[in-house]
Order: sequence, then C-alpha cells, then structure tokens
Amino acid sequence: MNPSMAAAHRKTFVAAMAAGGGGVAIFRTGPEKVRNRDVHFPFRPDSDFWYLTAFPEPDAVAVLIAAPDGEDNGAASSDRFVLFVRPKDPEMETWHGRRAGIDGATALYGADEAHSIDDLDAELPKLLRGAARLFYRTGDAGSEDFDRKLLSSLQQMYARTRDGVTGPATIVEPGTLLHEQRLVKTADEIAVLRRASVITVEGHRAVAAALNPGMYEYELEATVNGVFRRRGGWGPGYPSIVAGGDNATILHYTENDQPIADGALLLVDAGCEVDGYTADVTRCYPASGRFTDAQKALYEVVLEAELRGIGRVAPGNTFHSVHEEARRALIEGMLAIGLLTGSLDEVLEGGADQRFFMHKTSHWLGIDVHDVGKYWTDGAEADKTSRPLQAGMVLTVEPGLYIAADDETAPEEFRGIGIRIEDDVLVTADGHEVLTGDAPKTIADVEAACAAGAGAR
Ligand code: GLY
Ligand code: MN
Ligand code: MN
Repeated sequence: MNPSMAAAHRKTFVAAMAAGGGGVAIFRTGPEKVRNRDVHFPFRPDSDFWYLTAFPEPDAVAVLIAAPDGEDNGAASSDRFVLFVRPKDPEMETWHGRRAGIDGATALYGADEAHSIDDLDAELPKLLRGAARLFYRTGDAGSEDFDRKLLSSLQQMYARTRDGVTGPATIVEPGTLLHEQRLVKTADEIAVLRRASVITVEGHRAVAAALNPGMYEYELEATVNGVFRRRGGWGPGYPSIVAGGDNATILHYTENDQPIADGALLLVDAGCEVDGYTADVTRCYPASGRFTDAQKALYEVVLEAELRGIGRVAPGNTFHSVHEEARRALIEGMLAIGLLTGSLDEVLEGGADQRFFMHKTSHWLGIDVHDVGKYWTDGAEADKTSRPLQAGMVLTVEPGLYIAADDETAPEEFRGIGIRIEDDVLVTADGHEVLTGDAPKTIADVEAACAAGAGAR
C-alpha cells in the first residue's frame, strides 16, 4: 500500500478521535513468529496497523495523537503520528533483511517523530500524559506483555496525581471507530481490491485450463497460488481450498493432497492478496471438462441463489436480506430437484436446508478476508436489526450446497457433491458491481474455460 493511502486513513481516523474529544491511539504489529528454532513464519503485518501506517516490518508500534476538536494546545496534545521501529543494524540486516530504521520511518512512512522500539517504555508515558482517552485493544493474543506494561504505566501516571500528572481515564476499543472506517472503502482501496480481483480471476482461469482427471489437488493449488505470486500479489489471502469430489463437502478443506477423479468436480476457493487486501472467490470445475447431469442440476440451483443474492446488493438493503434471498432461492431449487421435500415455508421455518447449506451467504471483505465492521445496527441487543448496506462496502456472496457422500437421506446421484459459488461485490451509489465477475460462472462459461487449456494437455 502506498504510504499516502495510509496517511489518508490516519487523517480520517484522527478526525474521528478528535470529534469525540481527542485522545491517544496505540496500534502494534507483533514480532515475527517462530516456526521452529531460528526459522520464522512469513510475516504479515497486523491489519489495523497496516491500514494506518503501510509500514511493512515486524515489531513496531504506532501512536496517533488527536487533540480534541477546537483545541491545539501545544506539542503534547496536537495531532501527531509517532512510530517506534526496529533501528537500523547492519549485522542483523545482513542476516535477516533491510530495515527502514528510525530515519526511514519519518522519511518514507510520514511519521512526525520516530524512535527505536527499544525506547518504547521510556517514551510511551510521555505520549500518554494529559490524554483524555486511550484507544487501545486490550487482550489481543500475543499482546499480554505489552498490555501489562501499558496498564502499569497508566497506574504510575494515576499515582502521580499530586504532581499534577493526569493520564487517560478511559480506554476505548479502537475498532469502534477504526473498524467502521475500514468497512467503507475509499476509491484507492477499491482500486487495490480491483487488482486483487483481476489476479484472482486469472488464477481461477489458469486452474480451469490446467485441470485434468488424475491430477492431484496440490497441482492446481500450485497453479492458482503461482499466478497470485507471478502477478505480484503477496500470495493467497487465506489458505487456498482445492477440493476434488466429496472433499468439497468439507467447508474449510485445506489438505489439498488427493487425486481428482474423472467425473469429479473440483471446488477452488482462492483469493489473491494485493497490498494487504484480499479477494475471496470460489468456483467449481469439472475434471473431465463437462458437468454430469446431477452436478449440473445442483450447480444451477447454487448459481441462481448466488445471482439472486447479488441482486439484493444495493444501498439501503440490509446485509441479511442478501442471505435471505439466496437461502430462499436455494430452498426453491432444492425442492424443485427433489433434494428437499415439503413447502418453501416449512423449510424456511424448520431449517431442513441447513443440512446442505450450513453457512451464511456473506461477510465483509477487505484487509481481512472476514473483514471488520458491524453487521447489526447499534442499540439494545433486542432491538438490533441487520445493517443497511452503503456505497463503498465490499462483501462476498457465496451460497453453496454440500451433500455428504454418506448422506442416505439425499438422492443418491447428489451424494458426495459440494458446490459453492463466491464473488466479491462492491456496493455502489446505485446498486452494485461484481468485482470478480470475470471468473467463469455459467455452466457454458466454466466448460469453455476448462476447454481453453485442452490443447495444452
Ligand atoms: N475463503 C473463506 C470464505 O469464503 O469465507
Ligand atoms: Mn468468503
Ligand atoms: Mn472463500
């Protein structure tokens, strides 16, 4: 992400802090996690930290200071962005990679002030003094040591009241402001999501073209993940699901280690992460290049549900109305093909469909694949209603049907088939735009995409 994008995010966030009385916000990104001995997992910054800083290194802390609206009473409480980072260290950098260092934090990432992360304990109390509110997420896994230190430094401040020292009296969950902000994407963020979508579509098309019966799931995983990296993405934004045959009835199947039988469908749920923003797309491809009649029947039901769900995406419609519409379409389709019996109302009421459709239709999408932001309106729990959609939100629409191989209550021809169709949908001022619609979706388009690689096989 371009640091100027993060600067724009900071500006909006600091303005929101200021409007509510100002305060100091602290965001951390952790150290690298040990994989074994001296080997680490690939590092990925904390999502809030990334959104506000674009600083890509581990072990850093951002402090944002917002003076209350209408006040700018000197350096201590005026708006400031302070970064604590790993200092430059030629030996460490020779072994482990380059660091921006303290100078880089100001010159490249726009910090007003930067310090070594080693000086955090000494500097933080100075930044907190006099602040009305502290925006900080307590209790995050891995933050236990930092939480303890921060809370103890607050106590030390409170203990110095005789010296006139005041510390923040209130700790605010930063997500109450920040996650609402992250939920509504800016034009720059939408541009990044578009790039992620384009690469993701390309990865899915590559799978369709490469797929042949007898291949192993991991070969197609390599195909799709390979496109993600080759085209400059960070890689998959979540572990790619590449599931042949009845493996597709396991919702989060990620072993990806089985051969794909002739006649099987391959479900691929894979999205490319670009600059920290991920797409999230599912398609199903017939290994032989052609759907069987039973696969076709189920697929058409899911496709209809997906299209009807997408049709509900528009400003003012509620988030849950998308699910309700997709679910209704699935049930109507299941009744029509004999997968369920009874009436629409009976199934809606009794939930018999949940045996085959056990998840919800949508989630927010952005820096996190299951992105942040509230799904319900504010207010007392009993009064909450589903949140109306608004322009700039991005959500998935992803109905599915999953018929376990050993489900003797289902007609035999449907057993062992899992189908999900998932697109990423932007809410626009007058409706929606499907960001990932170029991934093949109709039966004719999927079969054509599979045939596209036939010459190379
Ligand atoms: N890939 C995770 C999901 O579809 O929610
Ligand atoms: Mn999803
Ligand atoms: Mn998905």
